[in-house]
Amino acid sequence: MRAAIQRRYEAPLLKRLGGTVDGEHVLEIGCGQGVGTQIILEQFGAAHVTAIDLDPAMIDRARERLRDHGDKVALRTGDAEHIDAPDDSFDAVFDFGIIHHIPNWRASIEEVHRVIRPSGRFYFEEVTSHALARWSYRTFLEHPEHDRFGAFGFVHELETQHLHVGDRATTRFFGDFVIGVATNHDS
Ligand SMILES: C[S@@+](CC[C@H](N)C(=O)[O-])C[C@H]1O[C@@H](n2cnc3c(N)ncnc32)[C@H](O)[C@@H]1O
Repeated sequence: MRAAIQRRYEAPLLKRLGGTVDGEHVLEIGCGQGVGTQIILEQFGAAHVTAIDLDPAMIDRARERLRDHGDKVALRTGDAEHIDAPDDSFDAVFDFGIIHHIPNWRASIEEVHRVIRPSGRFYFEEVTSHALARWSYRTFLEHPEHDRFGAFGFVHELETQHLHVGDRATTRFFGDFVIGVATNHDS
């Protein structure tokens, strides 16, 4: 279900907002089981994807899913709050619903900004505080309790950190999700 939504709904919307990443080098933070990385390669045309996740079991599952992509993918355990990569090392970074899991989420945006080259892009699909307050999220899932962000707060933080969104963000499902693309305005 989640994978189908990502492939058929979120990816086309992100592509409309930010275009493809043909031939580019991309980082995916919080790759989970690797569906996002598959999408970045197959639907966005990336030349190479480095994908990190905090959970080694997720990396194992992603490795299994992505084995046919060979050396176009580098998978490793890693923390989006402390990305193990030099400054300006990626053309684009993708976030499919992971930053709302990070207690110090502003630090992860700082890291995203640090590793994207000037004029590179940040593609995001995030779950807002509006969604996390719902009975279903509170009952079945665990998330940080404090300093949650709404759609406006998330976009505002990106803009504060020189990741310019402008009109390339939108909310979906009564404000539960914020989806958009930011450009690194550093020169
Ligand atoms: C809701 S899942 C999303 C997975 C995948 N992106 C997707 O859309 O299906 C959140 C993922 O983020 C990972 N995660 C949580 N905190 C992280 C962090 N600080 N750095 C990297 N990954 C993290 C979790 O292990 C989990 O796989």
